[in-house]
Amino acid sequence: MTSPYHSLFEFHKPFAPPVSLFFYPFTPRVKEFYTPVMEIIKSFSFGGFPSKAVLCNKQELLPSDTALFVADHHTRELISLPEGLAEVTLIPGEEGKQWDAVDKILKTAMEEGLARDSLICGAGGGVVTDMTAFAGSLYMRGCRVILIPTSLLAMVDAALGGKTGIDAGVYKNMIGTFYPAEEVRICPELLRDLPLKEYMNGLGEVLKTAIIGDADLLQLLVEKREAVLARDTEILSEIIRRCILVKGALVEEDLREKGRRAFLNLGHTFGHALEAVSEFRWSHGAAVIWGTVKALEASVRLGLASPDWAEEMKSLFLGYGYELEALEDPQAILEAMKMDKKKQKGKLRYILPAGPQDIRIEFLDPDFVLEVLKVK
Ligand SMILES: NC(=O)c1ccc[n+]([C@@H]2O[C@H](COP(=O)([O-])OP(=O)(O)OC[C@H]3O[C@@H](n4cnc5c(N)ncnc54)[C@H](O)[C@@H]3O)[C@@H](O)[C@H]2O)c1
Repeated sequence: MTSPYHSLFEFHKPFAPPVSLFFYPFTPRVKEFYTPVMEIIKSFSFGGFPSKAVLCNKQELLPSDTALFVADHHTRELISLPEGLAEVTLIPGEEGKQWDAVDKILKTAMEEGLARDSLICGAGGGVVTDMTAFAGSLYMRGCRVILIPTSLLAMVDAALGGKTGIDAGVYKNMIGTFYPAEEVRICPELLRDLPLKEYMNGLGEVLKTAIIGDADLLQLLVEKREAVLARDTEILSEIIRRCILVKGALVEEDLREKGRRAFLNLGHTFGHALEAVSEFRWSHGAAVIWGTVKALEASVRLGLASPDWAEEMKSLFLGYGYELEALEDPQAILEAMKMDKKKQKGKLRYILPAGPQDIRIEFLDPDFVLEVLKVK
């Protein structure tokens, strides 16, 4: 097994000469201009759409050819904009993830005379990145989009992989497109002031991603818990890079979620139902972790996962401070799961962890699921 920390020490390694080098090719003082500030995590092809994820420093986040900048009232302050740049500022949070916001982006794009080759850049959590990419996919049948995720969840998950959209009333992500951003620019320093609840939401997705696709990341999360919780920038860069590689590989194989991309929904069928039944007192990340524990319980009962490994994972989650017991009525949670939109031919699919990097998709009997839900 390779060391999980190997690439931590490579973070500042230059990947290519910056553009400025070409302007000063013969000067002996060239090194003064050579400050490596970006590192490509990976270039992908998502269903034929080229996309790449890049680690950046704060000054490099905004592409110089941005024609329209989109953010919300919290994330607008994170990026300094050149004077006169057209911008749209949206209402923060899930409540604002509605058609009105996309309409505002599209109308501004028209007023500003953006063309199909113009660049819309969205900086924010998953709500802003989903809506910016959605608007970008619609404007003139698709203009250029670059995303700057500012929450941990958006960095490790939402901004990469091409799912865009809005909610329709209470129905989450009912309207949308597949439209990968040409670039996702990530600066882990932006996470310093992210509210703790939002940070833990993202960490839930990180833990899930580690179980699905990166045993070394899982080990790093076990060994470096304090640094992770302290938001150490180097550790975060490594975590984000690894999550991007796991998600990117699954999306390259399966953009439209016909197969293995569904692994990324580990913990979500149970978790979404708990969020709904608790009227969103359970936050998304915490509910996903609780849902992963339920999926582990189902796996153990089916003989897919070893009880020892399931216990190890539960201790890991507890160590990060997640709540593993829900007081809500199991029957109500089961009913909410039946409403899940990820049904196939009327049956509910469950993503079950059999071990690290060993994920199965199973259709489960409701009575069996109810028994799992009753376990304290
Ligand atoms: N497209 C996908 O594949 C995908 C995957 C997962 C989730 N999502 C979507 O992502 C959304 C959730 O994203 P989220 O958890 O980022 O929520 P969010 O976008 O609502 O952001 C959470 C809050 O944190 C604030 N914030 C963001 N970055 C900040 C920063 N650096 N400093 C201070 N405040 C900051 C935001 O303004 C907001 O108030 C959901 O709508 C979900 O459907 C999409």
